[in-house]
Amino acid sequence: MPTPDLSVSFSNITLKTPITLLSGCVGFGEELLNIADFSFKDIGAICLKGTTLEPRHGNKPHRLAETPAGLLNAIGLQNPGARHVVDDILPRWEKESRLKEGDGPPTRLFANISGSTVQDYGEVARIFDDSFVDAIEINISCPNVKKGGAAFGSDPIIAADVVSEVRKATSKPIITKLSPNVTDITQIAKATLEAGSDAFSVINTLMGMAIDIRTRKPVLGNTQGGLSGPAIKPVALLKVWLVYQAVAKYQKPILGQGGITSGSDAFEFFIAGSSAIGVGTALFRNPLISADINRELREIMTQQNIENLSETIGTLAISR
Ligand SMILES: Cc1cc2nc3c(=O)[nH]c(=O)nc-3n(C[C@H](O)[C@H](O)[C@H](O)COP(=O)(O)O)c2cc1C
Repeated sequence: MPTPDLSVSFSNITLKTPITLLSGCVGFGEELLNIADFSFKDIGAICLKGTTLEPRHGNKPHRLAETPAGLLNAIGLQNPGARHVVDDILPRWEKESRLKEGDGPPTRLFANISGSTVQDYGEVARIFDDSFVDAIEINISCPNVKKGGAAFGSDPIIAADVVSEVRKATSKPIITKLSPNVTDITQIAKATLEAGSDAFSVINTLMGMAIDIRTRKPVLGNTQGGLSGPAIKPVALLKVWLVYQAVAKYQKPILGQGGITSGSDAFEFFIAGSSAIGVGTALFRNPLISADINRELREIMTQQNIENLSETIGTLAISR
């Protein structure tokens, strides 16, 4: 049997491996260049830190709290603003030859955009439209200041408004990042699909909190934060499977994510309906984990006689 092929097609973008390094877990990617033995040949895409129109300082500390098998974060979207990212950071990536390491296309870059109003999202997307990024991921989990701080992504109509606004601003592929903190994630998927989304990231973090029993204060400066890591993997898998059933017939791919730490985790996400997978929290423990995940994926593919991961997407066997 030929060597298993790890390249995948995601919304007409070929990724040299199925792994995207997730937003917020690698900053703007530059620190990866300083990690000994880090190789871009293992990385299909890098998703940049959530970016807003204006620079943000982020939340007061603590911003991170470890939980059993997970991580709570409330960074507060610290970032230097879209203009700075596009004018100062991305040109350096454009010249970076290491993105071309390995076989196939270069490691792709995805923007991740946020806003306080629907119009903000459109403006940030317009700034990234005129840049080197291959796709724009929309984080719809941000608070909508005009609606009392409820997340854009918790209401199908408002989520669709955000995607329509971004659609008007860019011709690049749009990936809508769905929140699990909703009653029915498929409703949001369908509404944003109709508004022009090309693909979906499933899932963003689950809201949670931690309490210091001595002070009785919340551990996080922001009181609540997003839970990620292995603790959320079963929830993420279910949401991927639900969204896959809702969107597969429209050929809209899913970037599955939430707690992936191994090739076997990644393979589960393909079976549930992902066309590519993301790794975030696991990078804090091992920034080189992508090489292990790819190696394990190849082993599983060889054992199961699979040449390309596309053969596996959405193959969950259910007896009804
Ligand atoms: C420290 C931290 C910061 C994050 N920042 C962002 C962000 O700026 N935008 C976003 O869409 N998701 C953000 N996320 C969510 C991740 O991109 C990812 O969707 C989530 O953590 C689930 O994957 P994981 O369990 O592999 O980490 C962040 C997660 C962590 C842990």
